Amino acid sequence: MGQDASLFMQALSGARTQRAPLWLMRQAGRYLPEYRAIRAHAGSFLDLCYNPALAAEVTMQPIRRFGFDAAILFSDILVIPHALGQNVWFAEGEGPRLDPVTGHSGLSALGHSENLGRLDPVLETVARVRTQLAEETGGQTALIGFCGAPWTVASYMIAGKGTPDQAPIRLIAYQDPDFLQALIELLVEASTRYLVAQIDAGAQAVQIFESFGGALPPALFQRWCHDPVTRIVRNVKSQRPHARVIVFARGVGQNLTAFGKVDEIDALGLDWGVDVNWAARAIQPMKAVQGNLDPLALMAGGEALADGVRRILDALSNGPHIFNLGHGIQPATPVAHVEELARLVRSA
Ligand code: CP3
Repeated sequence: MGQDASLFMQALSGARTQRAPLWLMRQAGRYLPEYRAIRAHAGSFLDLCYNPALAAEVTMQPIRRFGFDAAILFSDILVIPHALGQNVWFAEGEGPRLDPVTGHSGLSALGHSENLGRLDPVLETVARVRTQLAEETGGQTALIGFCGAPWTVASYMIAGKGTPDQAPIRLIAYQDPDFLQALIELLVEASTRYLVAQIDAGAQAVQIFESFGGALPPALFQRWCHDPVTRIVRNVKSQRPHARVIVFARGVGQNLTAFGKVDEIDALGLDWGVDVNWAARAIQPMKAVQGNLDPLALMAGGEALADGVRRILDALSNGPHIFNLGHGIQPATPVAHVEELARLVRSA
């Protein structure tokens, strides 16, 4: 059997599978005691991202525990700015911090998109995980690589941290669009190279995380979200046609249909705000969908979880569908609820 024997790859190729394949955004992370144990002695979060043996181990942890249908590389979207020479660190309990890139002079201080050597350990992690998946699951579990979308990554590069409503980058989009365009160009090129390198190292699919797409007013969506993401997807597909590409654009609502029309995208992620009955009509005829249980329904468990799973499966199981959350799993989620979710999806 080839790699497309996995349920996840079948769904990505547009097939309605006998049951929905399952994985969770942020499935490797703090809700798992075995992750916290490794994290405690790995040094900083970035040290862990750049340690191939430990990063491969934490990538495998949720696969061993829950038997998910896909593994996602353990890394972060902010390794690209780091590779480009920006100072990036993770303040304990506070999230990411960066020295902000201000204007054209800040941009010219960054490295070129060809020089991503700092990411070599991440590619080594990809290769190790692919080997371990072949050994431990016989290739039934697929490997997903990822990057952040340019607008989302640039929002951190400009603000130097996470911000409510991404106000700093939105202001720059009005005040200095030439600077923002140049930064986005750099990220389109670097992200293309990085995703192609992940595919060459063993990733069968890649996901582009546009976590802050919902911050864009409609008039700015095309230029700062749709165009850069579509360019990365087309670049990657023209260089590696066999790889599958998932776009997760959070909060963009009906603008998902604009991505639905991009043939090179294989699947669209649905955040928890998307009506699954609408997605079944408007998106699924064009491509596979992935999502979209509210992470808080999973944290709550019980009826909220069972009801949420049922609604999603009822609406989306007549077409290609990958079961996932509508955003990343919350660190306070009980492991038993994730076990229950896996049972519900598998027994449907
Ligand atoms: O999904 C996975 O299991 C793979 C690994 C992964 C991480 N981050 C690990 C991580 C992935 C795919 C990401 C993507 C990511 N990182 C996004 C896009 C997805 C989304 O959630 O919207 C964004 C915006 C980031 C930036 C980022 N990294 C933030 C805002 C934070 C701090 C907030 C938080 O959740 O702690 C991180 C840190 C981070 N990335 C952690 C993990 C497991 C926690 C850090 C730790 O263990 O100390």
